[in-house]
Amino acid sequence: MEEEAAVERFPGVYAVGDRLATRNLIPGVRVYGERLLAVAGVEYRAWNPRRSKLAAAILSGLGELPIREDSKVLYLGAASGTTASHISDIATRGRVYCVEFSPRVFPSLLALAELRHNIIPILADARRPHLYAPLLEECDLVYQDVAQPEQAAILLENARYFLKPGGFFMLAVKARSVDIAMAPRDVYSQEAQRLRDGGMEIRELLPLEPHEKDHAMVVGRKER
Ligand SMILES: C[S@@+](CC[C@H](N)C(=O)[O-])C[C@H]1O[C@@H](n2cnc3c(N)ncnc32)[C@H](O)[C@@H]1O
Repeated sequence: MEEEAAVERFPGVYAVGDRLATRNLIPGVRVYGERLLAVAGVEYRAWNPRRSKLAAAILSGLGELPIREDSKVLYLGAASGTTASHISDIATRGRVYCVEFSPRVFPSLLALAELRHNIIPILADARRPHLYAPLLEECDLVYQDVAQPEQAAILLENARYFLKPGGFFMLAVKARSVDIAMAPRDVYSQEAQRLRDGGMEIRELLPLEPHEKDHAMVVGRKER
C-alpha cells in the first residue's frame, strides 16, 4: 500500500506521516510485528517508541544521532534485537555487535543475525568485557540498555575497551534499576556525573516520558 512521503530526520531515519521509520534492510521481513510502509517503491519499517528507547529518544527531541551508514556499534543488552534491528537498517555498511546474556532471548537474536549481515550476536555478560574483547573491534558508538544497578560502571568499562577516542555513547538509564527510592531526575544527574567522572563528555540528557516512564537517554562522547 502506498503511504505519504518519507522525510529524513537523521541519516537513515525517516518520518513517514506521523510514524518514525527506518528503511528495511530485508524487504518483506518484519522483526517484531512492526508495520511495513511502502513509499515510492521503497519499504520502511515503522519504529515503535513504546518498544524502543532509541525511537523514544528521537521523538523526545534528540539533538544528534551518532549512527552513520558505516558505523561500528557495540550494543549492550540487545534482547531479541528490536532496537538493534533498526540500527542495522541505518548502519548498512557497518556492524552492530549485540551483547546479550539471557539464553532465553538469544535464539531470536541469532535468527535475526542469520538474515542481517551486519548483526553480530554475542552471548555474554556486559559486566565482563574482557571475555568478548577478542570478538570486537574499536567502535564508533556504545549503546547500552541493560537495566542494571551499575549502569554507568558497565558503560565506562566497555567504553574503555572498545570506544574510539571521541566516540559516542548512548545510555538508556532506568531510574528504578539504579535506586527505587530516589527521584528519577536525581538518578539521571547522578549517572551523568558518574560518566563525567569517568572521562565522558555529556551532550544530552533526555527524559523519555511519555514513551517510557522513569527512563532517560544520556548521550555523550569519550574524551580524545
Ligand atoms: C530493556 S531490555 C533491552 C531491550 C532492547 N535494548 C531493545 O530496545 O530492543 C534489557 C536487556 O538487557 C539484558 N541484560 C541485562 N543485564 C545484562 C548484562 N549484564 N549483560 C548482557 N545483557 C544484559 C537483559 O537480558 C535484557 O534482555
